[in-house]
Amino acid sequence: MEKLIIKGGQRLHGRVKISGAKNAVLPIIAATLLGNERPSTLDEVPSLDDVHTIAEVIRSLGVDATFDAGEHKFIVDSARIEKCEAPYDLVRKMRASFLIMGPLLARSRRAKISLPGGCAIGTRPIDLHLKGFEALGASIEIGHGFIDAFAPNGLKGARVYLDFPSVGATENIMMAASMAEGQTVLENPAQEPEIIDLANYLNVMGAKVRGAGTNVIKIEGVNMLHGADYTVIPDRIEAGTYMVAAAMTRGDVYIENAITEHLKPVIAKLKEAGVAIEEDVDGVRVSCDGPIKSVDIKTMPYPGFPTDMQAQFMAMLAISEGTGLVTETVFENRFMHVDELKRMGANIKIDGRTSVVEGVSRLTGCQVKATDLRAGAAMVLAGLVADGETQVGYIHHIDRGYDHLVEKLVSLGANIRRVDE
Ligand code: EPU
Repeated sequence: MEKLIIKGGQRLHGRVKISGAKNAVLPIIAATLLGNERPSTLDEVPSLDDVHTIAEVIRSLGVDATFDAGEHKFIVDSARIEKCEAPYDLVRKMRASFLIMGPLLARSRRAKISLPGGCAIGTRPIDLHLKGFEALGASIEIGHGFIDAFAPNGLKGARVYLDFPSVGATENIMMAASMAEGQTVLENPAQEPEIIDLANYLNVMGAKVRGAGTNVIKIEGVNMLHGADYTVIPDRIEAGTYMVAAAMTRGDVYIENAITEHLKPVIAKLKEAGVAIEEDVDGVRVSCDGPIKSVDIKTMPYPGFPTDMQAQFMAMLAISEGTGLVTETVFENRFMHVDELKRMGANIKIDGRTSVVEGVSRLTGCQVKATDLRAGAAMVLAGLVADGETQVGYIHHIDRGYDHLVEKLVSLGANIRRVDE
């Protein structure tokens, strides 16, 4: 098993380039299944384990997919889809595999996907996805560990109200509705930048999606979509993670390619903490040479503070001046990094959905584990400022979502390396 060894205490400085967004590219790759004329070429696709997994998922359907991780290029020819069933082994590996259900239902009129089950950060049900498919006229059967959805006469546009603006449900319903007959009105959808990116890609494939990024999305179904070339947006969570790294290490880092419009809550909270932020059209410079003040954060659907930055902020608050409250409202169980941070000397108490973080003057390096992707990022951040050596295990979680993390941190002056035990 591989792990990361970090020697804390280096101030990060220099430039780092942000890769394409994991949470934009996964639904976009699922959406390539909708194109039955000419291949799709996707650019700026990050080199991540999750991208390799979704590539395997669509290949398992008989689709031709090539990923050139070095060139960040992903080519899919989905002229022929041979199967409409996604096996347990792949869905278990990555819940986002479930995103192929909408496109498969629309294109093949049937999708049989293994039930995703629980995951590290909560039970994560899929009821909203299924409710949407049913509203579009699909029949759903659940049994033997599978969800079988079928619409032999095709999907029909409908009005769908989401009880919660789920990112995945919005994406799945948007993809399914793109090829349904008539108009779909999706109310209370997620408004994340990744939703807009998916809508933009669907539209270049020939879909008619309007209003993505607002609280009503209208989709006029079309008969056929074609493959298209598309460049994925930069990863706002990767950018946010390097911003926090710069602040925590009292560094000075220019984060190239970051779209600051997507990072407003993160920037606002860093400024409130006393961190200097200079935004321009190509990215953002983050520097900090004084103490970091504690702030309170509460995770919310976009444009609120992102749950995917909660763990990294917790690592920062662990060494800030004063007490900060971290309230997680999106996932019911996303505090597993608390125990790991406490092993490093953090003073954190959990009270229901809120963690009370009392800043300490220093963290101490020790053996910790990445309990999920963002928790893993938080451990790396803590290790960058801890006294002595930190060893982060279970780094397969980190490899799912951070493109060349070690190389990028080393280029900024961090003392971090990957070793095989
Ligand atoms: N939910 C339901 N029913 C549903 C769907 C979701 O109750 O049918 C609940 C979930 O249980 C959760 C909440 O709604 O409590 C939010 O879930 P959502 O569907 O919005 O999240 P997701 O689509 O499963 C995506 C990202 C996550 C990110 C969340 C929230 C991808 C591939 N994943 O997940 O990313 O945390 O949105 O922004 O886009 C990560 O990158 O580390 C990560 C976990």
